[in-house]
Amino acid sequence: MKITYQEEKRIFKLDTAHTSYIIGITDDEGFIGHVYYGAYIRDEDVTYLLRTGERPLVPSVNNRERGAFYDTFPCEYPGNGLGDYRESAVAILDQNGNTAVQPLYTGYRICDGKPEIPGLPATFGTEKECQTLEITAEDAVCGLAFSLYYTVFADVDVITRSVRIRNTGKAPVYLTKVMSAALDMDAEDYQMLTLCGSWARERVAERRPIGHGRQSVGSTRGESSHQEHPFLALVNKHATEDAGSVYGFHFVYSGNFLAQVEKNQYDSLRVVMGIHPQDFKWKLNPNETFCAPEAVLTYSGSGLGTMTRNLHDLYRKHLIRSPYRNQKRPVLINNWEATYFDFDTKKLLAIAREAKRCGIEMLVMDDGWFGRRNNDDCSLGDWTVNEEKLPGGLKHLVDEVNRIGLKFGIWFEPEMISPDSELYRAHPDWAIALPEREPVRSRNQYVLDLSRPEVVDYVYEAVASVLRSANVEYVKWDMNRQLTDLGSVYLGAERQGELLHRYVLAVYELQERLTREFPNLLLENCSGGGARFDPGMLYYSPQIWCSDDTDAVERLRIQEGTAMIYPLSAMGAHVSDCPNHITGRVTPFATRGNVALAGTFGYELDITKISEEERAQIPEQVALYHKYHDLIREGDYYRIASYSVNREYDCWGVVAKDRSEALYTCVQVTARPNVHSRKLRLAGLSPEKRYLVEESGTTAYGDTLMEAGILMPELRGDYASALIHLKEV
Ligand code: DGJ
Repeated sequence: MKITYQEEKRIFKLDTAHTSYIIGITDDEGFIGHVYYGAYIRDEDVTYLLRTGERPLVPSVNNRERGAFYDTFPCEYPGNGLGDYRESAVAILDQNGNTAVQPLYTGYRICDGKPEIPGLPATFGTEKECQTLEITAEDAVCGLAFSLYYTVFADVDVITRSVRIRNTGKAPVYLTKVMSAALDMDAEDYQMLTLCGSWARERVAERRPIGHGRQSVGSTRGESSHQEHPFLALVNKHATEDAGSVYGFHFVYSGNFLAQVEKNQYDSLRVVMGIHPQDFKWKLNPNETFCAPEAVLTYSGSGLGTMTRNLHDLYRKHLIRSPYRNQKRPVLINNWEATYFDFDTKKLLAIAREAKRCGIEMLVMDDGWFGRRNNDDCSLGDWTVNEEKLPGGLKHLVDEVNRIGLKFGIWFEPEMISPDSELYRAHPDWAIALPEREPVRSRNQYVLDLSRPEVVDYVYEAVASVLRSANVEYVKWDMNRQLTDLGSVYLGAERQGELLHRYVLAVYELQERLTREFPNLLLENCSGGGARFDPGMLYYSPQIWCSDDTDAVERLRIQEGTAMIYPLSAMGAHVSDCPNHITGRVTPFATRGNVALAGTFGYELDITKISEEERAQIPEQVALYHKYHDLIREGDYYRIASYSVNREYDCWGVVAKDRSEALYTCVQVTARPNVHSRKLRLAGLSPEKRYLVEESGTTAYGDTLMEAGILMPELRGDYASALIHLKEV
């Protein structure tokens, strides 16, 4: 049993292989207390931890100090406005204008497996793989019933949480805040680790001390965003890759989020994670239920590396649904950086022919194939093929590409509408906008109001009819601006606060419909690079475009941050041309290949125009991809050295689950003279196994390679790189 309940003591214990999570219910009024989360422990009854001083503070015994109780009690799902001054998990607005709410325990259910969350992406598992606890609670005064869900994925040391709230009263209630998880814990010496950035600089790791008060990351941009990421870890000050306590929190959602830590007067911490309350107000009619998205929690007592690998395994086994999850993805060539908007069938076929000669397997036609789209000022929404560029239409092009021997993929930006489009001229009210204000343009485009069912149907048919018209095997689903001017003519005054969440639900519905009608489609999500790289999207697409920045050096940091929590098989990574279109940096073609090998691998350049010397390397790189991709897709990932820290070189490795094989990649970002015996201590190997180092022909035991280390290959010049392949002998 992974979940147990001790009836007489009212204690729930949730165990994974290496962690325990304990919840205690108070005898009197049914407060749901958080007792413990951390390394696995044997005992269930550690409720003495809830003791809060000499005199019992439980209100039924000491009602005089009820205020102090609320202010200190470690709570599983803290209410609002009744004396707990820390961040609440839920807040409401009732018919009288009151905001107070307090969920109190009513019962529980335990089941094998995991119920789906209607309309939302979520982790999944069979009855053998996971078990779920539902704690039910209510606030009888405001007529709300709560279900707090906890699913235990024992094998990957993960507990997921989500919440449902039902209106059991007779009048509507507005939900103004619904967090998906809250966790009260001791402060110890934790730091806060987040992933932050910007366009072309997504998900760079940042570690900072936790001070008193509230510190958070969040998005109010309508998507998970380039800027901050729906992830937060509490990392013991001295924690390293392989030692120390780490609590990871990750949100399975693609819209606004809040991930916050609060340190209070007693130096305790409260973490909350959920939909950002800003601009959120959900009208809940009697008998209606609101389902909050899922939050993923993992604890590692052995450093950051274990947190990373727990999340990689969770997502590979229990979140990605695509049939491509365990399959090699076709090596693709995308024409965006090759041609931008300036292409036609002839150019694309020339690229396809050369690509075929080099072993590439799929051509992806990016932005610019529809309407009058010769720049980014127009035509979003008009998803009809531009026959001036593609004479004979899409089917002709796809058939020709297939005849050459390549698969075909296509780009869409389905959620958008250009002011200069037939669609906007016909339906100006389909754009998200506020009355009497001209909506803010970004990349000269507006966002479609996906809270309207007819808009969702239009978008779906527009995309699906293109896919039905030709043999399209891959879609890149892009989204190039963030949401603002939050107004919908459809929703009416009472429901404007629902727009952002309804928008996200509609994106999920669209991708659900698409993957159902085209089950073998390889879907890659994208948002102006990596602004919607989140677990919600991963549920629909097994890979997500990581960043518009394809510079090999910039990618070291972006991919390291991304791989902190996402499997390498999810990271869209391509070899592009130099000087790099964003940074102007020139790096060796081989290094661009080695860095892209840590992701889905493909090309983003005009293969007909690059030098013969570079073109000649493509078949070799494609061969490396085929040689290593099973290992990279399924293996355990280890960070060995980080250029962000040492400013000189980077090294990471992937080790097969059975420890029989490993691949390490080193990139020397800055060459330094007279560096004597630079060592790399490898990680993840079996100490007892003996390995052949393919490049040098030497053999050594795993313990030697990990403890004594190996000398870093001699690399000449800035940006030089090398692969080190180990095989058990
Ligand atoms: C942003 C994406 O990240 C790029 O790869 C490209 O598809 C452009 N949009 C096209 O507009």
